[in-house]
Amino acid sequence: MKNYDPWNIPILEGDVGVEELLEHLVGWGILAPSTHNTQPWKFRIIPSKGVIDLCLDGRFVLPESDKRGRQSVVSIGCALQNVVSAAESYHLSYSFDFLPGMPLYPAPIVSFRLEDVRESYVLHSDRELLNVMKARSMNRNEYDSTKPIPSAIIDRITGMIQDMGLELQVITDMPTILAISDFQYMADSTVVMRTRFRNELSKFFLVNNSLEGRGMPGMTFGLDDMTASSIKQELGKVGPVNPGKMAGFARSSRNGIRSSPAVFVVSAPEDTPRSWLTVGMAFEKAALSAQSNGLSVAVHAGIIEVGLANQMLRLRLKGKGRPTMLFRMGYAKETMPHAPRLSVNEVGEIIAEEGELL
Ligand SMILES: Cc1cc2nc3c(=O)[nH]c(=O)nc-3n(C[C@H](O)[C@H](O)[C@H](O)COP(=O)(O)O)c2cc1C
Repeated sequence: MKNYDPWNIPILEGDVGVEELLEHLVGWGILAPSTHNTQPWKFRIIPSKGVIDLCLDGRFVLPESDKRGRQSVVSIGCALQNVVSAAESYHLSYSFDFLPGMPLYPAPIVSFRLEDVRESYVLHSDRELLNVMKARSMNRNEYDSTKPIPSAIIDRITGMIQDMGLELQVITDMPTILAISDFQYMADSTVVMRTRFRNELSKFFLVNNSLEGRGMPGMTFGLDDMTASSIKQELGKVGPVNPGKMAGFARSSRNGIRSSPAVFVVSAPEDTPRSWLTVGMAFEKAALSAQSNGLSVAVHAGIIEVGLANQMLRLRLKGKGRPTMLFRMGYAKETMPHAPRLSVNEVGEIIAEEGELL
């Protein structure tokens, strides 16, 4: 289906013009994970400057699940990391700047720039990381709890995240993992009982054969066609719902966490958009590193966004910063299908000079 085409991005070799190159880098950016697969981004490409401005599309900052925009900004950080990983894979030198505050499209929140701006480039790449980006997907299945993650992998990811100025706690002891799974259950079952939260989720929860480019098909939660459409209907209801069915999400998240040999909690010194961008970059780096080692990850944002659950987590972990990203990692029993994507044309635009659309 067309909404999965972005995953077939080719790896370029040889002569490529600057505009094509920047569009190509955006093609890697859009494969990044995002909250509810909202893809809350816009990319403004300025070929004459070798710039890609990443913007936060305010229409997709969801008022119920993402009140402060934290999840969306973390998602932009993930997209930036993919652009950076692609640039590195093609041996391009680059830099990027975070803009102050949380500006919305058309203003950029991050500006990425090629250091060496030319009309064309001769590309050759290390294909490994590019192939990892193409293969990555969130895996919400249960993991093999009897198979620990080798300490060398944990150490590498820990070093990577700490080098970005963030605090990382890797939880591998069962009592703490159980406690976290209960905090998560509390957070998820609380929000899913709110009509407005459910209705918002229903817009981004898709039936399996949906042609939408944005949103999460039931199959990415391991659901068959019938179950996916009945859940979508239930989520969209305004009146009373079946609480047992609704608690299903919370239960499967809890089981997912309990099955995981490790839970990663990334905390930032400050709860600001700048930190959220860095957390997003760190998470995506970790997710790609996991993928390249045959490991899977799943994010649980409820525990970050529901204040009480977040405080309980913080008290339990006794960390310094505010937990900003929680994900679990392990060896999955099954692979998961990709989620759809909007195309580069739908989220990107070429700008001749500052402000002038082509
Ligand atoms: C900031 C952020 C928060 C997320 N929160 C959740 C979550 O709470 N529960 C969940 O099941 N998936 C969560 N995800 C995973 C996304 O739903 C997933 O990335 C998206 O559907 C696209 O799928 P893909 O990563 O397989 O390409 C989150 C991802 C990001 C980047």
